[in-house]
Amino acid sequence: MTENQQHLEALPGEGKKEKVRNMFNNIAERYDFLNHFLSFGIDYHWRNQVLKIIKAKKPQSILDIATGTGDLAILSSKANPHSIVGIDISEEMLKVGINKVKRKQLDSLIELKQADSEDLPFEDNKFDLAMVAFGVRNFAHLEVGLAEIKRVLKLGGTLIVLEFSHPRKVPMKQLYGFYSNNILPAFGKIISNDSSAYTYLPESVKRFPAYDNFTDIMNTVGFKDTQWRALSAGIASIYTGEK
Ligand SMILES: C[S@@+](CC[C@H](N)C(=O)[O-])C[C@H]1O[C@@H](n2cnc3c(N)ncnc32)[C@H](O)[C@@H]1O
Repeated sequence: MTENQQHLEALPGEGKKEKVRNMFNNIAERYDFLNHFLSFGIDYHWRNQVLKIIKAKKPQSILDIATGTGDLAILSSKANPHSIVGIDISEEMLKVGINKVKRKQLDSLIELKQADSEDLPFEDNKFDLAMVAFGVRNFAHLEVGLAEIKRVLKLGGTLIVLEFSHPRKVPMKQLYGFYSNNILPAFGKIISNDSSAYTYLPESVKRFPAYDNFTDIMNTVGFKDTQWRALSAGIASIYTGEK
């Protein structure tokens, strides 16, 4: 672990939040390219799996938490909801997202704004569906963030979480370990100019309580009917639960 990472991981909640925000502000302009390039484009497939679940739920109002540059919010428009709101703490990620939404002429449907997942600026029971893609891992206080999401969901509303996990079976476990510890930080550093962002990524994935551990936390927070499904041999997983 680098000094920078140790610093980031050792920080108490608010300090971590500020660091995470700065990190995403720094890489915002290159984030989309890096995302697709470093995942060999598999992230499109993963987001489409989320879209299938969204379509099946037929939500009218959608909240995309940690929306970043808005990819999942934009994709979710294909489920024909009446409104989509995306929130993120990084203003630079949001700027990129707002431009994309305008270019796609979706600005009357999708609103992106700055807010903290742990203190959502919405009334109780507002949304039919909430989703977080590659965001919960970065929350400073995971349970606080999940409880906030539950608060703003309608009764019977759905939470969908897409997050990296660690493949558990040979040979994917070893291959992924090598890729995420060596290749990913090296490319990330060259392309993004921010070495901390892509060394932080594998460390934060390692620390993230994946699979049953995550549904256990969802249960503790009060979500019902929680389920998880591994994607691409466990490189990522989708979690769902209902309020
Ligand atoms: C890896 S990006 C994911 C962005 C997007 N959901 C996607 O799928 O590409 C993680 C995002 O989480 C945001 N984030 C981290 N902590 C947050 C918090 N407490 N509240 C809101 N957003 C947060 C970061 O600013 C960043 O844009």
